[in-house]
Amino acid sequence: MGNTFGQLFRVTTFGESHGGGIGVVIDGCPPNIDISDAEVQRELDRRRPGQSELTTQRKEEDRCEILSGVFEGKTLGTPIAILVRNKDARPEDYGEIARKFRPSHADFTYEAKYGIRNWQGGGRASARETIGRVAAGAVAKKILSAFYSEFEIVAYVAQIHQVIAKINRSTVKMKDVEKNSIRCPDAAAAKKMTSLIEEIRGEGDSVGGVIECVARGIPPGLGEPVFDKLEAELAKAMLSLPATKGFEIGSGFAATHMRGSEHNDPFEMRGGKVRTATNNSGGVQGGISNGEEIYFRVAFKPTATIGHVQSTVTVSREQTKLTARGRHDPCVLPRAVPIVEAMAALVLCDHALRQCAISLPGSIK
Ligand SMILES: Cc1cc2nc3c(=O)[nH]c(=O)nc-3n(C[C@H](O)[C@H](O)[C@H](O)COP(=O)(O)O)c2cc1C
Repeated sequence: MGNTFGQLFRVTTFGESHGGGIGVVIDGCPPNIDISDAEVQRELDRRRPGQSELTTQRKEEDRCEILSGVFEGKTLGTPIAILVRNKDARPEDYGEIARKFRPSHADFTYEAKYGIRNWQGGGRASARETIGRVAAGAVAKKILSAFYSEFEIVAYVAQIHQVIAKINRSTVKMKDVEKNSIRCPDAAAAKKMTSLIEEIRGEGDSVGGVIECVARGIPPGLGEPVFDKLEAELAKAMLSLPATKGFEIGSGFAATHMRGSEHNDPFEMRGGKVRTATNNSGGVQGGISNGEEIYFRVAFKPTATIGHVQSTVTVSREQTKLTARGRHDPCVLPRAVPIVEAMAALVLCDHALRQCAISLPGSIK
């Protein structure tokens, strides 16, 4: 079953879009890590629906309840359970899709696999499932900050449809990202992206784009060759998110246009450390972090639900037409930014703990 992620920092999410609630159980969290409801809530608020005009208007506060594993603001080392109750569920919006498969959704495949599905709001395939990941990501970030003093993860929208932002990856901070509701730190591009999404929403259509993520302050040594190489783990984490279509790390597909002489990252001594002069590797070589920034890009498709009449088939295999109802994101990217950060934190935290099993943090020169 595929509901658990990670080896030592082990996260199991549960819940469906219109069920009683959504949440996560985290096992393997070290004791004595400071964590408060407010820190988890801050991350959930960045993911929450209805946070701006650009997102779905479903009204969910997404208030988290930490049920176990934390006492007087510190982790106990026991399983941490975090629950968010669903409040604004409107199953009546989804009556038609009990019988009709929505194109490019998970309706047909869930039915084909399980022979039963909760059709209300996409059930388990809904992006509400990612609440558990974001809550766990908040805890993972705390552990990584406790391990590595310069640790930081920043994700941002780098592209929406044809609008490409200009962003200095090495200097961008979370406060720059949070300045606008698109979560694009290039103000001019953010404006164009906003108008585009408004225009597209007006036409009952949707668009996708690219989220870039950078993790700083990760020392050399994280990643487990051969099957759990760091980039393989990041790729799996990102492609397990709803609506993702592509992943590239470092130079990615652009490497195919380069020669070895352009692409290689020369080593040099800087500040008493082995560093690279360039970073086409994206901070990972041989599946192991090399101490440089780890950066990668994730492609998201246009939201599947659109306001157009579409061809589909019914559960009894008859050709039919479907017009979408319900509340939807015309572009999922602004809300996906904290989710990408959370998944990156889960991978890095798991590998930081796995590295502890063979060497103490900071012991690699
Ligand atoms: C933050 C976020 C919000 C989403 N919101 C919607 C939405 O409002 N409507 C929709 O059709 N899909 C939405 N999706 C995507 C669907 O959940 C997803 O496309 C669907 O479950 C099918 O899975 P797949 O695209 O991974 O194949 C969202 C995805 C994310 C990451």
